Amino acid sequence: MGTTPDFPTLTIVGHPLVQHKLRLLRDRETPTKIFKELVDEIAMLMAYEATAGLSLEEAPVETPLERTVGYRVSGKKLTLVPILRAGLGMVEGVLRLVPSARVGHIGLYRDHDTLEPVDYYFKVPGDAAERDFFLLDPMLATGGSAASAVASLKRAGATRIRFLCLVAAPEGVRRLAAAHRDVQVYCASLDRGLNPQGYILPGLGDAGDRLFGTR
Ligand code: PRP
Ligand code: URA
Repeated sequence: MGTTPDFPTLTIVGHPLVQHKLRLLRDRETPTKIFKELVDEIAMLMAYEATAGLSLEEAPVETPLERTVGYRVSGKKLTLVPILRAGLGMVEGVLRLVPSARVGHIGLYRDHDTLEPVDYYFKVPGDAAERDFFLLDPMLATGGSAASAVASLKRAGATRIRFLCLVAAPEGVRRLAAAHRDVQVYCASLDRGLNPQGYILPGLGDAGDRLFGTR
């Protein structure tokens, strides 16, 4: 895992398997079925890193031989919140590691002209203040969608939020950090920047379209 002084809220997951799969994901020739599988696999590997800081508490356990004390993740069930649509592609991968997690949903799309997010759906479990949230979206571009999603979660009471994406642009990381300094961001790559249409360069294209075959 890597951090960089210019982006104190960002952790880049440099695991060799993540980086290997990310190159395949970027490839314009990668078909929808493989793209979906790669997003799922990278999300699972990233979740391993992003959950490293969760708190543990001691808990008793009876082995076949005796009673001892082990550990369990403390607090209420973790909550995954994919940002629709493309975040949906990351849910199953994370759930494979954390099968008991709850899943909320935030519906947002970027207006094509303004690039600002338009929200259309919000549903997360109650008692948000007591839960650890993992926001999921493959792309952190201008950061507008991420900042809006975090603001919605905070309005619902959330206080512990991590943001998992696959590819981030410096502009997005800065905007999210400016609005929500407390949110740690995990990505597989910090890319060069944005093109005039707000797409990440080199990026991987439109994540939602590539996941769902809607180009
Ligand atoms: C994409 C992506 C993010 C957003 C990132 O979704 O999945 O949610 O853009 O861009 P931003 O950082 O500039 O806000 P999009 O708006 O294309 O919606 P979709 O998933 O429904 O296609
Ligand atoms: N949304 C995407 O799907 N891709 C980008 O490069 C930027 C925003």
